[in-house]
Amino acid sequence: MRIALAADHAGYEYKDRIVKILRDGGHTITDFGTWNSTPVDYPDYGYAVGEAVASGQADRGIVVCGSSLGIAMAANKVPGARCAPVCEPYSADLARRHNDANVLALSERLTGWEMVERLVEIFLKTPFDEGRHRERVDKLFEYTQTWKNRTLKVLETGKVTGAETPKDLLPT
Ligand code: RB5
Repeated sequence: MRIALAADHAGYEYKDRIVKILRDGGHTITDFGTWNSTPVDYPDYGYAVGEAVASGQADRGIVVCGSSLGIAMAANKVPGARCAPVCEPYSADLARRHNDANVLALSERLTGWEMVERLVEIFLKTPFDEGRHRERVDKLFEYTQTWKNRTLKVLETGKVTGAETPKDLLPT
């Protein structure tokens, strides 16, 4: 499998260990860094992996930061990336079976190494249960392509604000 990985300064040690294990296991790895504890911004690393997966350059992605949360938020900004922050096996399994997660986000500060190894294994070997989940997953991508129109429409009809017309939204 072609796997893209990245981490910020709070996640690079786990990332480096995962890179080694996956390389030894015969996977093709793209490692976007970081490689040391010099502070960096997790969005840059989440975007890199999200883009690699969404563009088809990688089959799966794995990202690591202190909590798993920020880097997952970043990866999920990329249309086509479906990143699941996961800290226990059941969610890892469901992220694949129901959500077709293509990026796994891990926490170096909150999750022990043995659990991380299990989560990576589950993430890589568990299939997507197509069927009823396909349409729902497709909707996630569809939204990224249409959200501007949808949001404007909602504002126009006042659904969000309770305003009667767009004019009511303007400051007086
Ligand atoms: C870095 O200190 C930390 O904020 C980052 O790794 C991550 O946990 C953000 O969500």
